[in-house]
Amino acid sequence: MTETRSAPADGCPVAHRTTEPVFDEAYFADPYPLYDQLRTAGPAHRVTAPDGSTVWLVTRYADVRQGLADQRLARHPKYNKGGYTGIPLPDDLRVILATTDPPHHTRLRSLINAAFTRRRIESLRPRVDEVVDGLLDAMADTEGTVDLVSALAAPLPITIICDLLGIPEDERGAFRAYTDNIVGTDPAGAAQGCRDMVAFLKRMIALKRTEPDDALITGLIDARDQDDRLTESEMVGMAFMILIGGYDTTLSMISSGALALLRDPERASQLRAYPELMPAAVEELLRFEAPVQNAIRRFATEDLVIGGVPIEAGSAVVLSIGSAGRDPEQYACPARMDFERDDTTHVSFGFGPHFCPGAQLGRMEVAVSLRQLLTRFPEMALADEALRYRPGFTFRELSTLPVVLGKQADR
Ligand code: HEM
Repeated sequence: MTETRSAPADGCPVAHRTTEPVFDEAYFADPYPLYDQLRTAGPAHRVTAPDGSTVWLVTRYADVRQGLADQRLARHPKYNKGGYTGIPLPDDLRVILATTDPPHHTRLRSLINAAFTRRRIESLRPRVDEVVDGLLDAMADTEGTVDLVSALAAPLPITIICDLLGIPEDERGAFRAYTDNIVGTDPAGAAQGCRDMVAFLKRMIALKRTEPDDALITGLIDARDQDDRLTESEMVGMAFMILIGGYDTTLSMISSGALALLRDPERASQLRAYPELMPAAVEELLRFEAPVQNAIRRFATEDLVIGGVPIEAGSAVVLSIGSAGRDPEQYACPARMDFERDDTTHVSFGFGPHFCPGAQLGRMEVAVSLRQLLTRFPEMALADEALRYRPGFTFRELSTLPVVLGKQADR
């Protein structure tokens, strides 16, 4: 990649590449070589995102971490001066965690934080174990090649999200169909999926008013009824964010984690021999293959400087979590998976006010899935090296992960 150097107002040299980086099939399959080039060339780059919009892409760990917590990088679209519109969201989804900033965001977050306490999440562990066990039983009964994405990585998080929200069993088919549209690659289908989901969630809220339970939608209704803190739209938005936040991310980490272990049998054997390494392994996998490659875009509320690069007020800024996780300034030999690494301070769950409220749950689902896969199917092997990733700038997500299970271990 060719580059020229110039000195901006503050005298710090900034690299301007003369070649525009391309976010294509090769990038979706393996984004890390491009990040390496960009990081070496400079701390922030004006690039054309896959949706055609222009953003500043920030590539180095220190800048990404600082940017995630910087209140001058706001989420509310009113700060956007670049004409970016994004996916057209229904009115009920205009004010959600993803598009608000403190203090409004703080109010919404306090409600979700109350629902995602460490104790409550830990109490879900037996259920996560049971669901994984059932999914692996079904896999074991399958002849030939098994797709780990559709057999495990997709159904586990969606089942747990339905449990969390209190979606009745007989409504889960519709919930999954709308979800599949929302996270699909067709923008018109995604917009329709959002509208369907809003109507569905409103129906669920009405149902829980007459048939309350101890799940989250009832909890949100109680919060609203007690001191009128949540509007109806905010309740819908909250349930929607839990779905969007918890589905693709966990799906991605289970499938990328399984793939990383299939490609590194030494690390897989190490985990089988020392299962107590699993929590550290999950953190390392999160660094190594961040499910959210590029954080949700922010907008500069004023002129500011990132890593010496001047950014104009109103510009869209994307903090590259995937690139930060492979920054050699932060991690020794970043392209190597090492479950005994000293530095586990990754930003794969974000940092600052938008830090992932589902981090503990995500970690648990990934750890339980990988532990059971490793112990039940010690002979499991990749069935096809030609893997496809879904096109996308935010999530890194395998479309399928075909494996041959081999003999099941005695239980
Ligand atoms: C391995 C799994 C997961 C990963 C890697 C992950 C990653 C992230 C990241 C990076 C963010 C911040 C994005 C940004 O600041 O631009 C985030 C936010 C969020 N996540 Fe997660 N997540 C995971 C699992 C979950 C789960 C299981 C849930 C809920 C069931 C969840 C719900 C959310 C919500 C609601 C937000 C928005 C928070 C806010 O804006 O204040 N996530 N997640």
